[in-house]
Amino acid sequence: MGRVTASDIDKAAAVLRAGGLVALPTETVYGLGANAEDPAAVSRIFQVKGRPPTHPLIVHIADAEHLDTWVKDVPAAARLLAEHFWPGPLTLVLRRGARVPLEATGGLETVAVRVPDHPIALALLKAFGGGITAPSANRFGSVSPTTANDVRAELGDAIGFVLDGGRCEVGVESTIVDVTGETPAILRPGGVTREDLEAVLGYPLTVPATSHVRVPGQHPSHYAPRARVVLVEPEKVVAEAELASDLGHQVGVFLPASFTGAAVKAHAVVEVPASMAAYAHGLYGFLRELDQQGCDLIVTSLPAEKGLGLAIANRLRRAAGPRTTV
Ligand code: TXA
Ligand code: MG
Repeated sequence: MGRVTASDIDKAAAVLRAGGLVALPTETVYGLGANAEDPAAVSRIFQVKGRPPTHPLIVHIADAEHLDTWVKDVPAAARLLAEHFWPGPLTLVLRRGARVPLEATGGLETVAVRVPDHPIALALLKAFGGGITAPSANRFGSVSPTTANDVRAELGDAIGFVLDGGRCEVGVESTIVDVTGETPAILRPGGVTREDLEAVLGYPLTVPATSHVRVPGQHPSHYAPRARVVLVEPEKVVAEAELASDLGHQVGVFLPASFTGAAVKAHAVVEVPASMAAYAHGLYGFLRELDQQGCDLIVTSLPAEKGLGLAIANRLRRAAGPRTTV
């Protein structure tokens, strides 16, 4: 568990029991955790994040065997997916059990549950003994944190305890699958690929278009850096960066892997890794880095929407989405 000791875990569990908030690493991104069964603690998460109270949270549990105590019924498809992918970056939406307060579900009669695949998260869940509701530990709408420093930069003094587990392995959030309907539906692409889910289920799944607002809180602009994100075709990235630079922008570029080594007129350039796993792992860090370097515009293109490329494209589209002015 690296720099985290058993006594840190005990302290964090005590903070949760006392109704406090703890930032914890998972394999996807850092979460801002509270006792899932403590409505006041859960409400504090929304205050700290600046998140609308109707935007539901994920309940993290230690073991798939505990699932039945948190939800009302577990359809066969859910059982199958949990068996194959837990612990791991898959969240299942099921009917809410009595244990889950409505504060955690944004008033919905369904609840999102997952078993994270991270030694620190699992150690904390075991020491605490209950469920931990945890959204990504960032301010509402901004880029999810993948290091403990990102958490501190986002939420600063608002949280007493940050468990530092180094950089998150997967780098994008969990895949969310709604298993309450007749057939499972992907609500958010993420760390488990659609292809892997389909291989286990034995049938194709649909993925909603990014612009289709289905779930409370699935706003088009999300995961957004301060800089405006502009998406163009891969072969136009270099020309677009030059044009925007000539117009006086501080341009940041995510240069597609097929153009690695190309000369680009820009303030800062990130060469996108060819491997989608490496791209997902670095994605939020790259966005933060370009913000920190003072870029006001980020130019890039979407990767092919297969494998982890589906989740990366989803996050880039959302980062590029229309922003509200509130
Ligand atoms: O990888 C992850 O999932 C990370 C780590 C910390 O586990 N968590 C995360 O949480 O991404 P958050 O709060 O940033 O995103 C939770 C998503 C939201 O898009 C929310 O709309 C959806 O889960 N969600 C939660 N409960 C739901 C429900 N009952 N029905 C449909 N969607 C739900
Ligand atoms: Mg989030």
